[in-house]
Amino acid sequence: MATQPRLKLALIGLGRLGAIRARILAFQQPRIDLVAACDTKPGSDEWAAANLPPSIKFFADPEDCMKNSGAEAVLISTATATHALLVIQGLDLGLHVMCEKPISVDVITTEEVLAKAASKPHLKFLVPFSRRYDDSYRAAKQMVENGSLGQIHAVETSCLDQQDPTGFFVTFSAQSGGIFVDMGVHDIDVGRYFLDVKSGLSNPKKQVNRVIAMGQQAVYGDLSKHGDCDNGWGLVEFANGKVLTTHVGRTLTNGFEGMTRVCGTKGHSVVNGNSTINRVEVRDSHGVRTITTPDAFVLYDKSFINDLAEFASAILDNEPLTCYPEDAYEAAKIATALQYSFRNGVPVYFDDNGLPIMEIAK
Ligand SMILES: NC(=O)c1ccc[n+]([C@@H]2O[C@H](COP(=O)([O-])OP(=O)(O)OC[C@H]3O[C@@H](n4cnc5c(N)ncnc54)[C@H](O)[C@@H]3O)[C@@H](O)[C@H]2O)c1
Repeated sequence: MATQPRLKLALIGLGRLGAIRARILAFQQPRIDLVAACDTKPGSDEWAAANLPPSIKFFADPEDCMKNSGAEAVLISTATATHALLVIQGLDLGLHVMCEKPISVDVITTEEVLAKAASKPHLKFLVPFSRRYDDSYRAAKQMVENGSLGQIHAVETSCLDQQDPTGFFVTFSAQSGGIFVDMGVHDIDVGRYFLDVKSGLSNPKKQVNRVIAMGQQAVYGDLSKHGDCDNGWGLVEFANGKVLTTHVGRTLTNGFEGMTRVCGTKGHSVVNGNSTINRVEVRDSHGVRTITTPDAFVLYDKSFINDLAEFASAILDNEPLTCYPEDAYEAAKIATALQYSFRNGVPVYFDDNGLPIMEIAK
């Protein structure tokens, strides 16, 4: 019997998400052969030796890894500020690239990466947005598409991380681009996913009219050093008149909550309206309690499997992708505009080329 071809892939970045990806790649991807893992952080080699099969080579240098591991594809799971250089290096070396969101912390660099990817049409480039690979979001999307909710006119989301007493989010902020760029980009993508933002446009280049954001440092005061907040609110008016509102936060005390309400003229659909981890209740002297899902990695655990499986099928069988570079670009423009709006206390309008008008920097 002929053996099925498997994709030789290298993983770069073994942090919070990278460690999850490494285990999925090593043990839960029948069509992927994880050939190498790489991280520049001292001690990562020991983590890899203790947690991954010995056949997987460890590299401390990403370029060395991409050149010498025998990989045909690379997953970049490093800090956001390092993505662009690594994506471009990977594509230039002839590798298919999957990169965690967002591509970059600014619009100009995102454009450079997309231009590089467009210049290599024979290579797959995937920036997966987790919600699009989640069964519940896919079910809601079906309702939107079959018309059972009527005309979809607005989306409301919240994405609220659990408070971290170590202050991880403060150091993370230095390289993440800020809460709207790092976390809000998921919610913006959800809005784009459900709101049919390319329909009803008089100028197809311009998908957004304006955005405005506000924020607070309710718990982590040091975030102000990075122009960041621990609770942010964003309002996006798309050019087709549809509206997205989002609340992103890092200060919830019970766990993680990530809710989406799709508002239609015949009905609303609410995804993850209840953040309990299972259906078990404790009934005691405090009342009726449930345990909350601790973080996004647990809530979207299957998404991190589904997107990798899709990436492998796209390369091995030329199957279509769920997310295209354009989605990452459009979401990045909105996220950057919201971060700018929060930092400068102004609304941001979009020009006729579809670019946010930001005086200081994109
Ligand atoms: N899709 C999602 O839901 C989701 C969830 C979490 C994180 N992310 C994204 O994944 C990326 C990683 O996030 P994280 O939370 O794991 O961050 P992290 O800070 O925990 O880990 C990043 C790792 O990358 C390593 N690294 C940094 N620069 C490197 C380089 N040049 N070469 C090799 N290794 C390098 C660091 O040493 C660290 O171990 C971020 O871009 C983040 O936005 C996506």
